[in-house]
Amino acid sequence: MTDADQLRSSYLAFFEKRGHATVPSASLVPENDPTTLFTGSGMQPMVPFLLGQSHPKGKRICNSQKSFRSQDVEEVGDNRHTTFFEMLGNWSLGDYFKHEQLAWFFEFLTKDVKLDPARLYVSVFAGNDGLGIPRDQESADIWQQLFKAAGIKAEATDYQPKLGLGQARIFFYDEKKNWWSRSGEPTKMPAGEPGGPDSEVFYDFGAQLQLHEQSEFKDQLCHPNCDCGRFLEIGNSVFMQYLKQADGSFKELPQKNVDFGGGLERILAAKNNDQDVFSTDLFQPIITELEQLSGKRYKETEFIGSFRVIADHLRAAVMLAADGVFPSNKEQGYFSRRLVRRAIRHSHKLGIKKQLLKHLVPIITKMYEKPYPEVSEQVSKITDALVKEEEKFIKTLYKALHEFDKFLSHKFGKVGGAKQAFVTPADAFRFYESWGWPIEIFIEEATSKGVSLVSVDDFRSEFESEKAKHAEKSRTASIGKFKGGLQDASEQTIKYHTATHLLQAALRKVLGEHVQQKGSNITQDRLRFDFSHSHSISVDEQNQIMALIQNWIAADLPVSRQTMSKQAALESGAIAFFIEKYPDQVSVYTIGNNPESAWISKELCGGPHVSRTAEIGQLQWLKEQPVAAGIRRIYLK
Ligand code: SER
Repeated sequence: MTDADQLRSSYLAFFEKRGHATVPSASLVPENDPTTLFTGSGMQPMVPFLLGQSHPKGKRICNSQKSFRSQDVEEVGDNRHTTFFEMLGNWSLGDYFKHEQLAWFFEFLTKDVKLDPARLYVSVFAGNDGLGIPRDQESADIWQQLFKAAGIKAEATDYQPKLGLGQARIFFYDEKKNWWSRSGEPTKMPAGEPGGPDSEVFYDFGAQLQLHEQSEFKDQLCHPNCDCGRFLEIGNSVFMQYLKQADGSFKELPQKNVDFGGGLERILAAKNNDQDVFSTDLFQPIITELEQLSGKRYKETEFIGSFRVIADHLRAAVMLAADGVFPSNKEQGYFSRRLVRRAIRHSHKLGIKKQLLKHLVPIITKMYEKPYPEVSEQVSKITDALVKEEEKFIKTLYKALHEFDKFLSHKFGKVGGAKQAFVTPADAFRFYESWGWPIEIFIEEATSKGVSLVSVDDFRSEFESEKAKHAEKSRTASIGKFKGGLQDASEQTIKYHTATHLLQAALRKVLGEHVQQKGSNITQDRLRFDFSHSHSISVDEQNQIMALIQNWIAADLPVSRQTMSKQAALESGAIAFFIEKYPDQVSVYTIGNNPESAWISKELCGGPHVSRTAEIGQLQWLKEQPVAAGIRRIYLK
């Protein structure tokens, strides 16, 4: 058993002993939560139950949740940030509250994990009169008692920059630090969102290590929330008891909940008393393999960042793939692509010439054999997909790097050698389009060559708008093309075009109204149709879909075209592919005996179409497959 497996099991056993039911980790791709692309904490799948719905397993739940935080991509490279991590969680759904929670977590840390209580510091919420949320004196008092029982005198104090750590062990912070909701601080929460004050526990890696004095924060006094690396947050107990109201105020939820989350990687780092999470056995197998492949040592300062980026990014890409997210250009898939490509670029920096993924994927899947068997069960599928992505990227990487050098020397030549911010977001976009460089690769290459960007955030957001601008242009162009008569205007193409309308109508009837066209492509030989849907299609569903289409063809329904305002079209029930891109006057194709009252399909569309469905003739199902997370593709001929 690895240290990580051991810690995970002992945490779950600890809470099971205290009446909790262990539930499996939810997928990294959230179900029924359109607000976010990834599951980033254990509480996300718990929201309905925190709001009062009863949980089938009772009021005490615990688990280890696979989590992915895409916003941390940039931070990876230091000793504690990772994109993928496991969050150990326990929840009280209107059952126990502060006393039990704080005492249990303290007991778990000091008795089971055997952390020295003298190394623990905690924070609590200072309260905010304006929001009507009181100071959490209760938690501070509980902590004081717990430390006292462990023989430690723990003073409580409001955090003040000028005081630093002093003699205190319990710190009151404001809502920027000690409030938790999915959307952050109280003012950022939308109405209907639950949240509450929280209490964090920090592990002190030790003043004697002089982490603070050696850090960029040395001019300020150190305290638990300082970013110097001396303190590591290892767990957060959220007292989820408020609901944001439409008028900005807070009301109490019908039940008082506890939402606890603690990073497995971080608790393990504390247990090892080594502040580098990459030194835990959740990363070491990857790092050892990288050392062998590269002949370099992890601890060499010049390379340590690259080792960490590769280890973090590939582990995350593997875990995402196990939940169905593969490299692509769309939504979740694009995160996977960015992770793999950046990892490859860094392996190149380590001088690794061999193929990397085929060595590393099996090492990673093996690490998760015990807690998440679905990962190793898919090892060959994941390896194949990620190796393909590696091959695609590596093919052009050398040439792209060469082009990049040429581009930079040209730029620097122009500005007399001054290495200022003369690279623009449009340049970054060019490298994205021509060489498939995710924005962070461009930024890293530029900064490693001494280019300074005034603001990385602005640069990124301008890059994103550049990208959006181009996407819009090509979308408009493809709509124009569609209008002008598909790729060709042969009879067969027109038949298939009308068939895509029947297919979309049938999919919406059988699978549900969430089905929306995401793309289509018609050739003389077949039609291809992409649409939003998260599961594969069963044989039964396939039969129902084809039966509907064939009935409509047999009924020889008329296809008619009307011109009307966009608004009238939508009000009449017409569906549209890219609604915002259509002009005010639109053409609507309706299939059915009466365009007002008896129709089966109504779509904004430029045509052309057959005039009656019987003209389509025979249609057959060819195949169905996933294209990206949440998007399926069907071929008919
Ligand atoms: N939801 C809290 C967090 O993510 C605790 O689980 O930190």
